[in-house]
Amino acid sequence: MIQRSTIDRVFETARVEEVIGEFVTLKKAGSNFKGLSPFTDEKSPSFMVSPVKQIWKDFSTGKGGNSVTFLMEHEHFSYPEAIRYLAKKYNIEIEEEEQTDEQKEAADERESMYLVSNFAKEYYHDILLNHPKGKAIGLSYFKERGFTDETIKKFELGYNLDDWSAFTDTAIRKGYDLNYLAKTGLSIVKDNNKQFDRFKGRVLFPIQSMSGRVLGFGGRILTADKKAAKYLNSPESDIYHKSKVLYGIYHAKQSIAKEDRCFLVEGYTDVISMNQAGVENVVASSGTALTPDQIRLIRRLTPNITVLFDGDAAGIRASIRGIDLILEQGMNVKVLIFPEGDDPDSFSKKVSKEELTEYLDVNAKDFINFKVSLLMEEAKNDPVKKAGLIRDIVTSISKIPDNIQREVYVQECSRIMDISETVLFNELAQIGKKNEREAYQKRQQEQKQQERQQQRLGTSSGTLKSGGEGEDQEAYFQARISQEGGAKGKNAGLQTSKEIDTLAILEREIIKILLLYGNTQVDFIDWLEEVNEFGKVVMVKDEYSNFVSQELYLQLQDDEIEFTNPHFQKIYLEIINRLNQEQSISIEQLTSHQDPDISQLVTDILMDDEKHILSDWEARDIYVTGKEEVLPKLVTDAILNLRRVLIELKIKELIVEISNPDNRESTLEMVVNYTELKKKLFEKLNRIL
Ligand code: CTP
Ligand code: MN
Repeated sequence: MIQRSTIDRVFETARVEEVIGEFVTLKKAGSNFKGLSPFTDEKSPSFMVSPVKQIWKDFSTGKGGNSVTFLMEHEHFSYPEAIRYLAKKYNIEIEEEEQTDEQKEAADERESMYLVSNFAKEYYHDILLNHPKGKAIGLSYFKERGFTDETIKKFELGYNLDDWSAFTDTAIRKGYDLNYLAKTGLSIVKDNNKQFDRFKGRVLFPIQSMSGRVLGFGGRILTADKKAAKYLNSPESDIYHKSKVLYGIYHAKQSIAKEDRCFLVEGYTDVISMNQAGVENVVASSGTALTPDQIRLIRRLTPNITVLFDGDAAGIRASIRGIDLILEQGMNVKVLIFPEGDDPDSFSKKVSKEELTEYLDVNAKDFINFKVSLLMEEAKNDPVKKAGLIRDIVTSISKIPDNIQREVYVQECSRIMDISETVLFNELAQIGKKNEREAYQKRQQEQKQQERQQQRLGTSSGTLKSGGEGEDQEAYFQARISQEGGAKGKNAGLQTSKEIDTLAILEREIIKILLLYGNTQVDFIDWLEEVNEFGKVVMVKDEYSNFVSQELYLQLQDDEIEFTNPHFQKIYLEIINRLNQEQSISIEQLTSHQDPDISQLVTDILMDDEKHILSDWEARDIYVTGKEEVLPKLVTDAILNLRRVLIELKIKELIVEISNPDNRESTLEMVVNYTELKKKLFEKLNRIL
């Protein structure tokens, strides 16, 4: 763990324009810089960097943030990796957090395992290129397969001699601990304390993480020995989890993000040959079905995936089941089959780069359509089989999270399969119900668990908060935020209502006011009910001065209002905590926040205004009339409106409850009370207007 003080120093020192300047050509434009988006192939600049605010925003994709988020987006670094990168760039010494002995040991252990793995990679690579036997056997094998020197170096391919322990002995001589050699599986220690190399007389493919660390190896045999396995792989270890790794991801990540597509192949050699042919956005699942962890790895870079199949169709039928899992994660899936007898490796070597990209382009088929055609082929003249197909296909369709997309598929399948849409929709509804039931049960369990947890924490209930559609709201907000934040997934099932939409806008507005004017002191006006000398209730004007942040806090606290959007709630709490500690809000601390949810949203909100001037850059010094003048009204309206919408939601909820005869009376009474409250709010809103 990096110490907080180091992280703070990194943020104080790093200049966003310098960090980004290494990757994007920036031109001065007023007080900002602009450039071409590094995330798309745009022709006119929509990428903006603000040295004053120390943030950036890419208007073509909606991405934005600070130096660290840029490195995370562009280089696909993890948070600590980005901090370390910046510390190195600015010569800041990294101080590590005090860890418990156990933590330290585990971290040291993993670090040591990375070190021996890296040494092994260099050793095998060196043997391949420089040892006489390595050259004669290993290198000539790769050459025969058509791999160029450049490719061999890029993927740091290697070879280990057909000895008992050449590698292990060298490693130990160089001071590496046998313990870690054994833990990574590079060496095998026998009971009699003899040690051997795991990989012998095999060519080696280093398997790297997203950030380029060596996690393990795949070792291919060179002989056609039918008894020995073609590949021998590193065993699972503390650093190598097969189900979480994709071969080639390190070399492919930039290209996957840029092309907005990932090609999925089976083997190491497929990845390498396609790279050599100029197609770099390729990863391999290493011969097994994709796991959810692997899909998530790809989804960080793109929602679009194309699965490539060998020409010999044997494996296809078995593999298409696994593809439902990819659909379920909201990815858009295409499939492509190479010509009979070819795989991505052999095909890439036969054709030019242009021919390869064109082939990939032209022959990629939408997965559902592909599946329908494939199965229809089988069931052509067999009505019984055909009936069985429908369920199969519709199950695939039901996995797609996006409603509209699902409908389009139903229509298309109806056409291809020559079955009425109604039948398909009915089937879909049935499967949908089943899925829903399962999801509901799961949700209930989770909710119960949460309640138990809250009870333990003693959280108060009875908070004014729109309940009900819990999960749908969550999905909706996720979608909303990803629209705002520009994330690529468009698939969250939108089940929305006008109120929820308004609520999100209002909550965002309040955060924005807090960020921009939290530290400003203004004069507020409120209207209070008072009984006058004639015993009549009248509204009395109350004027007072307060900080915007305190006013918002007190008002919201009064009503125990919680934000429905979890991201806004998180930011709100963060701001309030800081206010309690430091008495004022520091924007920098939020835009450089460790939690990307917070830094990203704060950046987005702060950049709201810049968006409008992007088209008219030079006119930057013309400002819209100061919002400060209307600030008191802005604050009061935001809160009143938020209250009003929450109350409207509450009333709606209660009206549904009325049909329940058990407590109809009390429900009715509550409806009356809330309606009265709503009326008063409207009055207040109008009066201040
Ligand atoms: N694989 C494995 N163990 C095996 C066979 C295969 O781990 N005994 C994995 C490897 O990751 C391999 C992938 O499955 O890359 C695909 O297998 P295959 O097509 O047989 O291997 P290729 O890598 O294509 O090798 P080659 O082209 O040399 O046959
Ligand atoms: Mn193969």
